[in-house]
Amino acid sequence: MSRPVPELEVTALTRRFGGVTALDAVNLTFTTGEVTCLVGPNGSGKSTLVDCVTGVTRPTSGSVRLRGADLGRTSQRARVRAGLRRTFQAVHTFAGLTVLEHMLIAQQETDGVRWLAQVVRSPGLRRAEKTATEKAMPVLELVGLAGRAGDQASALSYGQQKLLGLAIALAGEPNVLCLDEPLAGVSPRLTDVLVGVLGEVRRRGVTLLVVEHDIDFVADISDQVVVLAEGQVVAAGPPSVLSDDVVFATLSGTTR
Ligand SMILES: Nc1ncnc2c1ncn2[C@@H]1O[C@H](COP(=O)(O)OP(=O)(O)OP(=O)(O)O)[C@@H](O)[C@H]1O
Ligand SMILES: [Mg+2]
Repeated sequence: MSRPVPELEVTALTRRFGGVTALDAVNLTFTTGEVTCLVGPNGSGKSTLVDCVTGVTRPTSGSVRLRGADLGRTSQRARVRAGLRRTFQAVHTFAGLTVLEHMLIAQQETDGVRWLAQVVRSPGLRRAEKTATEKAMPVLELVGLAGRAGDQASALSYGQQKLLGLAIALAGEPNVLCLDEPLAGVSPRLTDVLVGVLGEVRRRGVTLLVVEHDIDFVADISDQVVVLAEGQVVAAGPPSVLSDDVVFATLSGTTR
């Protein structure tokens, strides 16, 4: 029987920055609907891997395949349209825009309406806005921000802004979602909310690639754990790899 095509696959993925080899010939497979957590010390190449997958940066060599198709020099936008989304390690919000407006802008990528560019409020635009709002509200509901839809995004706490970042990524109904340190800097209460939301996202069958230092969370949510050190894969397998001596030694000394 032939092997099913993986949702995502990186082959011999290498990224150098000057003299630094951030990723060194990394081979990984991400199965549809599974959760992979990337762990490793600071500077081990976790964010660079997510950046190469999502098109933020170009690999020096090697390939990224989405459902068998080589993404090559495909732009970030085209990857988003192909169902590949991400959140960033740091929170980005636009000054002067509400929570809901952030969601609408995120959706323009997939619905073709340029919200910011619209000066004339045509009936067509109003209809599209209504449809987009109807799609956005359940996602805000999911992350617990529906009651804040009309508030400025900048008025949200750090943890709430991270939840908004997740909602923005989910608004495009991704097949593959990459999350870079979703829990870092989030209060314990909102961490519980985030963990619950990620559990729900997982149940919906989204393939998740999560960079996270919180080992209890990683052990809890992962189907596959990938341990990186100096750009190389030290171990990849079920969460039980975390109790391996080499992995333990690699991860001790990791700071958030
Ligand atoms: N734009 C860049 N220019 C130069 N060097 C970079 C750049 N991005 C990453 N690096 C280097 O590549 C290596 C891997 O960095 P990366 O950010 O991928 O690590 P990380 O595992 O995400 O670390 P952290 O846990 O601190 O977020 C580091 O040595 C880093 O300094
Ligand atoms: Mg990082």
